[in-house]
Amino acid sequence: MAMTLARLRINLGAIAHNVRTIQGLLAPGAELMAVVKADGFNHGATRVARVALANGAARLGVATFEEALELRREGIEAPILAWLWSTHDEATVLRVIAAGIDIGVTSLEQAEFLAALMKAQPEGTTVRVSVKVDTGIHRSAMPVEDLGPALVVLREAPGVEISGLFSHLACADDPDNPETDAQAERFRAAIESGRRLGLELPLNHICNSAATLSRKDLHFGMVRPGLAIYGHEPILGHENDLIPAMTWESDITVVHPIKAGEGSSYSLTWRAPKDGYIAIVPMGYADGLPRNIQDHLEVGINGHLYPQVGRVCMDQIVVDLGDNPHQVSTQDVAVIFGEGGLDATTLATRMGSISHEIICRPKGPRIQRIYETAMPGASVAGDA
Ligand SMILES: Cc1ncc(COP(=O)(O)O)c(C=O)c1O
Repeated sequence: MAMTLARLRINLGAIAHNVRTIQGLLAPGAELMAVVKADGFNHGATRVARVALANGAARLGVATFEEALELRREGIEAPILAWLWSTHDEATVLRVIAAGIDIGVTSLEQAEFLAALMKAQPEGTTVRVSVKVDTGIHRSAMPVEDLGPALVVLREAPGVEISGLFSHLACADDPDNPETDAQAERFRAAIESGRRLGLELPLNHICNSAATLSRKDLHFGMVRPGLAIYGHEPILGHENDLIPAMTWESDITVVHPIKAGEGSSYSLTWRAPKDGYIAIVPMGYADGLPRNIQDHLEVGINGHLYPQVGRVCMDQIVVDLGDNPHQVSTQDVAVIFGEGGLDATTLATRMGSISHEIICRPKGPRIQRIYETAMPGASVAGDA
């Protein structure tokens, strides 16, 4: 691969460490499902999946069927649950069934569709489903009123195994919000109502990262963290010994002098307060750097933070080096976030966003992913 100007360094040792840290916090008997949707939160789904499975995760969770099929194509045989799909594409649903991927059923319509599809399949065809019930987030899950009918339809369908119920929390990142308890109560009631229909429902789950780390009482049979696996605290101010796995860094293409009063970048929104130096970092909004990061970003260079100034362009940003006391040159590397720079959570908070968004941003052919395993003692045995 040709050298790119910018790189995403992914520390698989950190992922291994985070998975084991989470594993150590689980309620007795609870399994860990590593959420590797959106290409493993932009860390590379297959690489993350292998490391997570080698360090204690029992299952993988993804959003789309295509994401699940890609993991299978890469040779991953562990149980995978996928929960974001439409009934329009029967061929893909059949491929998912054939690949032994568990289906998250999120509406009565999907339950009826799947039941009809299974009736038309050769005898012996099986599919395992988890039914996603809405307990308050009102997003992609079936209303409680539809749960009974959906479970009955699925129970009657040939070859359908219902492994349990799942749900998603709306406010778990705010530990004082009573909505989490209200959702948990509705979830328990939903499980009870399903069991009254005679279903065993052995594997139920509701915890994202925030609840996994802060609500052991809600672990049920499994937890479903994403963010924490990648090393970011989901609840601001909490500390669980997680290590961020991603660093976004770039070469510096030029260092220039600038005179007091001269402006830089579009619209000249920034002017040098005194004679000094600027550095050009060749990453812009085409690479996922938000244009409105202006005035929030500080770039790390050799252990020092320097403000990004002026407009973010398509391909570049400008960094104010002041008098350049540490002699930054084009031989140095600029860190946008991660090791040696701001951490993703700090940057996200400054921008009024969350670390989930920031780590998903750096993308495209101008950024190369580089995998590292630099964590002493961490097993990355699962990594190919
Ligand atoms: C259904 C579901 N479960 C689990 C997760 C993981 O959430 P988090 O990354 O906050 O742990 C997500 C991600 O948004 C999700 O959509």
